[in-house]
Amino acid sequence: MTRKLTVLAMMIVAAFALMLNGLMAQDAAKADAPKADAKKFDYVGDAKCKMCHKIEHTSWLTTAHAKAWDVLKPEEQKKEECIACHSTGKAADGTLITGVGCESCHGPGSEYKAQKVMKDKALSLAAGLIEPKKEVCVKCHNEKSPTFKGFDFDKASKDPKGMHEKTPKKEATKG
Ligand code: HEC
Ligand code: HEC
Ligand code: HEC
Ligand code: HEC
Repeated sequence: MTRKLTVLAMMIVAAFALMLNGLMAQDAAKADAPKADAKKFDYVGDAKCKMCHKIEHTSWLTTAHAKAWDVLKPEEQKKEECIACHSTGKAADGTLITGVGCESCHGPGSEYKAQKVMKDKALSLAAGLIEPKKEVCVKCHNEKSPTFKGFDFDKASKDPKGMHEKTPKKEATKG
C-alpha cells in the first residue's frame, strides 16, 4: 500500500520534472535567438559593394558619412563614446570599419552581397539587407550626439550631404 503510493508519488515528481525541463529548454532557445541572429551577418566594408554599385559608391564618397571618421580628432578616435556613430562596425576578423559606410544603413552584407542573393529582393532582405527608413538614421541622429541640432528625415534623406545618388531607372528598351 505505502509502496504503491511512493511509486505513484515518484512518477508524479518525474513527470513534473520532465515538463519543467521542457519549459526551461524552450525559454533558453528563446533567450538565445536574438544573439544568434545578430551573429549571423558580418560587416564586409564598402569596397565589396563598390564592385556592383559604382554610382552609389562614387556619390557616397562625397557625403559627410564617408568622412565621418576624419572629423574626429586622433584622441577621439580612441573613445568608445565617439566611435559608435562615426564607424560602421567590426568585420569578422575584428577590424573596425571606420566612417558611416553602406552597411551602417543597409545592414551587414556578408550574406546578401552575393549576386545570386542580391538579384532576389526577398532573399536579400532575409539575408540581412535593410531598406533604410527613419528608424535607421535616428540610431545616430539623436540627442546623444554632442552636435545634435534636430533631425528632419524628409529633408535629410534628400540632402546630398547625407544621401548618395541612385542608379537611374533603365528606360524601356525600344525596338
Ligand atoms: C555581385 C554584385 C553585388 C554586390 C557585391 C552587391 N550588390 Fe547590391 N545589388 C546587386 C544587384 C544585381 C541588385 C539588384 C539591382 C536591381 O534589381 O536593379 C542589388 C540591389 C541592392 C539594393 C537595392 C535593393 C532594393 O531593390 O531596394 C541595395 C540597397 C544594395 N544592393 C546594397 C548593397 C550593399 C550595401 C552591398 C555591399 C555590402 C551590395 N549591395 C553588394 C548586386 C550586388
Ligand atoms: C549618437 C551618435 C553620435 C555619437 C555618440 C557621437 N556623434 Fe558626432 N555626430 C553624429 C551625427 C549624427 C553628426 C551629424 C551632425 C548632428 O546631427 O549631430 C555628428 C557630427 C560630428 C562632428 C561634425 C560636426 C559638424 O558640425 O560638422 C564632429 C566633429 C563630431 N560629431 C564629433 C564627435 C565626438 C568628438 C564624439 C564623442 C565625444 C561624437 N561625435 C559622438 C553622431 C554621433
Ligand atoms: C552610423 C551612424 C549614422 C547613421 C545610421 C546615419 N547617419 Fe547621417 N551622419 C552621421 C554622422 C557621424 C554624420 C556627420 C559626419 C561628418 O560631419 O562628416 C552624419 C551626417 C549626415 C548628414 C549631413 C549633415 C550636415 O549638415 O552636415 C545628413 C544629411 C545625414 N547624415 C542624413 C542621414 C540619413 C537620412 C540617414 C538615414 C537614411 C543617416 N544620416 C544615417 C551618422 C549617421
Ligand atoms: C546614410 C544612409 C545610407 C548610406 C550610408 C548608404 N545608403 Fe544606400 N540607400 C539609403 C536610402 C535611404 C535608400 C533608399 C532611397 C529610396 O529609394 O528612397 C538607399 C538606396 C540604395 C540603393 C537602391 C537604390 C539605387 O541606388 O538603385 C542601393 C543600390 C544602395 N542604396 C546602395 C548603397 C551603397 C553601395 C552604399 C555605400 C557606398 C550605400 N548605399 C550607402 C541610405 C544609405
